[in-house]
Amino acid sequence: MMLAHQNSCSDRPADGASGTLRSVPQGRRAVLKAALGLGLCFSFFDGAFARDEDPKTARPQEGDQFVFSSGDRDGQLVTPEYLPLGGPQQLAYPMDPRAKIVRNGSTLNLVALVRFDPAELADETRALAAHGVVAYSAICTHQGCPVSMWQAQAKTLFCACHAAQYDPRDHARVVDGPAPRRLPMLPIKMVNGLLTVAGGFTGRVGGEHP
Ligand code: FES
Repeated sequence: MMLAHQNSCSDRPADGASGTLRSVPQGRRAVLKAALGLGLCFSFFDGAFARDEDPKTARPQEGDQFVFSSGDRDGQLVTPEYLPLGGPQQLAYPMDPRAKIVRNGSTLNLVALVRFDPAELADETRALAAHGVVAYSAICTHQGCPVSMWQAQAKTLFCACHAAQYDPRDHARVVDGPAPRRLPMLPIKMVNGLLTVAGGFTGRVGGEHP
């Protein structure tokens, strides 16, 4: 099993975490980076930073496109040919294509994109997919770690923190581990060859508060 991109997400904030949170005025991105270093759960920041009036933290909007969140293609538009058929997932952030604003001000906007043969998808899942590409919140519903790993044999999205697994072919149904609910799905469609958001998340994004 690959263990890349592992972020721990402890049951309680690490020592010094509360001091970090008190430093919010120093800047949201700085705090988020500090939190990643401390292994804090992303659900911790949902209420604190999600501000609809700020386009960078607003949840994905209909018409948004996607850009890679990291790696060699960081910031580049995601098109289906960049998604290997049958997985693994690619992590991305939504972007307002008119203003060119990437909604990476909230880690809760991180999305996992996976491409399948449409015939492999459950009917309900296919209805929210675009040419076999599915999009889910990449934040674990257990305690908010990024779901950044992939179980190739089972073709499941894997959270390294406590080993939750989700089936992306079936609306991210939980197939193993402690996650209490599916990953919310993000409906998408194809517009001019680009993956495009077709509606809001199907449920609340983020983990349960410890
Ligand atoms: S945060 Fe516990 S399994 Fe993902």
